[in-house]
Amino acid sequence: MPKTRSHYVCNQCAAESPQYFGKCPSCHAWNSLEEQIVKSNPAAATPIGLTATARLNGKKRASSTTSVQARSSLTFEQISDHPQARVSSGYTELDRVLGGGIVPGSLVLIGGDPGIGKSTLLLQVANQLGSQHRVLYVCAEESGQQVKLRSHRLGIGKQPPVQLQQRSAEEAAAATGDPGPNLYVLPETDLETVLAELESLKPTVAVIDSIQALYYSALGSAPGSVSQVRECTSALMHVAKREHITLFIVGHVTKEGAIAGPKVLEHLVDTVLYFEGDRFASHRLLRSVKNRFGATHELGVFEMADRGLAEVSNPSELFLGNREEVAPGTATIVACEGTRPIVVELQALVSPTSYSSPRRSTTGIEYNRLLQILAVLEKRVGIPLSKLDAYVASSGGLNVGEPAADLGVAVAVAASFRDRVVDAKTVLIGEVGLGGQIRPVSQIELRLKEAAKLGFKRAIIPKGQTVPDIDLEIIPVAKVLDAMIAAL
Ligand code: TYD
Ligand code: MG
Repeated sequence: MPKTRSHYVCNQCAAESPQYFGKCPSCHAWNSLEEQIVKSNPAAATPIGLTATARLNGKKRASSTTSVQARSSLTFEQISDHPQARVSSGYTELDRVLGGGIVPGSLVLIGGDPGIGKSTLLLQVANQLGSQHRVLYVCAEESGQQVKLRSHRLGIGKQPPVQLQQRSAEEAAAATGDPGPNLYVLPETDLETVLAELESLKPTVAVIDSIQALYYSALGSAPGSVSQVRECTSALMHVAKREHITLFIVGHVTKEGAIAGPKVLEHLVDTVLYFEGDRFASHRLLRSVKNRFGATHELGVFEMADRGLAEVSNPSELFLGNREEVAPGTATIVACEGTRPIVVELQALVSPTSYSSPRRSTTGIEYNRLLQILAVLEKRVGIPLSKLDAYVASSGGLNVGEPAADLGVAVAVAASFRDRVVDAKTVLIGEVGLGGQIRPVSQIELRLKEAAKLGFKRAIIPKGQTVPDIDLEIIPVAKVLDAMIAAL
């Protein structure tokens, strides 16, 4: 490792300073100085984490390219197109979100609020993978004992062949042979120790829990700061790419949002997943936000139980609520998360306001979308809502931000206003335009099939959409008023 020190560079004018200032001494911009590493040996100006041999090879290559002038670009035909075999994580829900399994050598960032279950998920995944591959779990936030306690709770370590173990010094020294498929634990916060362990153990998969707890001593800033998080990730990335290690990196979403959270890392990694959910409800959603190897917006659903996270293979049942007692103001929609349709119950409540301006509140629905739908209902259907409070919530708080939920929201609000019950076997699908027209939605076939599978009998959908041959009574509607008449 070359000797390093850090300095500060202005992200506005690129002026350098050996010391931190709140205001750039050169261009006078505020909070623009960022910490960067300066290598004292210019010949060794390689990213941290590169070994001496790699550095040497790099130098050799550089001199040979200048003399021979070899071309390094390839034609399309020359590029091999053998797709890499994906590895199953042992969890169908995670595999789906990753685009069909883990791509060997990829870098996956898992972001989420503290306490949502990231460590639990990754320990379970590490355990599953450990039965066939060598896995290193770097627990920078917890001690080995804490991980072991958690693993007992999850029922890990009791079933062969996976054993949770920590390498002793002798084992580490003799790590030349293959110790077989195993799960190794490293309670460590020092980046250089983690990099050295990755290089010596050469695991197939490594989990870094969490990136905010890792510390690179050459930087003066505290663990979790933007420069620490960025520098640690790029160092890990270099080692992982060179050694062909699949890396799962945990990143907490901080209260301030982007500051030192996973946002600053998104461009570095191959895949970004967010683990979300209400901490007081048991279901957890895993969403892909960026994926170089698959579609984004895929959704995986888990449930947190006393023995860890269990997969939910039919989430519609989770979000449907109690179908026996359907209250007035309830409407059922079919939301689509990526390629996955989920039937969700929406509930609305409108009541006379006791405030000077009525209250509107949403859970799981976009607030501005509700305001727009209320305006359409008032103007196009003639429901006087300006003196009424309106509350709309999706069951389980599932985030249904898509426009196809509009018709469900509109009918739920109207049903609450009239104190009517919408038939429990009817689903509503459609976007509501400002003129009160019902606009077509994407993936109608998938949505209808899911509704039919769950035993629904009728679907109110936008007029003109092509409908598959399906065991459902289809009611096409052109205007929001037609939908009200059909549903209420
Ligand atoms: P954790 O994985 O530690 O969250 P993160 O790593 O995202 O900060 O999850 C912590 C929460 O999960 C904690 O509140 C307890 C709960 N939990 C269960 O309900 N059941 C379990 O089996 C485990 C291990 C945790
Ligand atoms: Mg954790």
